[in-house]
Amino acid sequence: MTFSRHIKIAPSILSADFADFGREIQAIEAEGADWVHVDVMDGHFVPNLTFGPPAVAAFRRHVKTVMDVHLMISPVDPFIDAYAKAGADILTAHVEAGAHSHRTMQAIRGAGMMAGVALNPGTSAEAVEDLLDLVDLVCVMTVNPGFGGQKFIDLTGKIRKLRAMIGDRPVHIEIDGGVDVTTAPLVAAAGADVLVAGSAVFKGGSVDNPGVYGTNIRAIRAAAEGAI
Ligand code: DX5
Ligand code: ZN
Repeated sequence: MTFSRHIKIAPSILSADFADFGREIQAIEAEGADWVHVDVMDGHFVPNLTFGPPAVAAFRRHVKTVMDVHLMISPVDPFIDAYAKAGADILTAHVEAGAHSHRTMQAIRGAGMMAGVALNPGTSAEAVEDLLDLVDLVCVMTVNPGFGGQKFIDLTGKIRKLRAMIGDRPVHIEIDGGVDVTTAPLVAAAGADVLVAGSAVFKGGSVDNPGVYGTNIRAIRAAAEGAI
């Protein structure tokens, strides 16, 4: 994957039909998704539980673009190899998930994946400053992680700070939580290039009516691109 800062839309399958992941993934990709965002929750680091490595391996068979796996789990390190085997292209772990994020980022790259580090809304940009040479992506959570459909928290100051810190390093800034046509312009203008969107992509559509996914994806992309 060659690095680029153009806007990428990464629908979160947390808002998909859990009984039909294969067709949901095919539908969002056919309708213009750049990446597929997969939210892994453990009921411990966050107050919700989703799926683990065997399910992620099953998703992989349908993903033709980029499988962007967001771990909301603690600990992380014992599971890195399982997500590499499951076929994650990007594996993102939270800086709050343990004391040794530096080791975790090295281990993710060592397992052959791109490494991402995520920050909760209450964690400042400086928390990842010394990791920027070890990562391919910084994920700024604009909701408290655990659930889709929450209200966007405006952290554009933090995004701008990170964008300046990153400088010319090939590191993506991903925004996760409450991204829609009204908030996408704010985060794009602040320097984000990967926009995760769950409810805003899936709302109103279905695998039998996937055109709505395409309309939603194009609207978010246009709103973001219009701001930069
Ligand atoms: C939240 C997840 C998000 C979530 C986004 O914990 O990490 O990826 O699915 O959902 P929306 O776009 O509905 O806020
Ligand atoms: Zn996520």
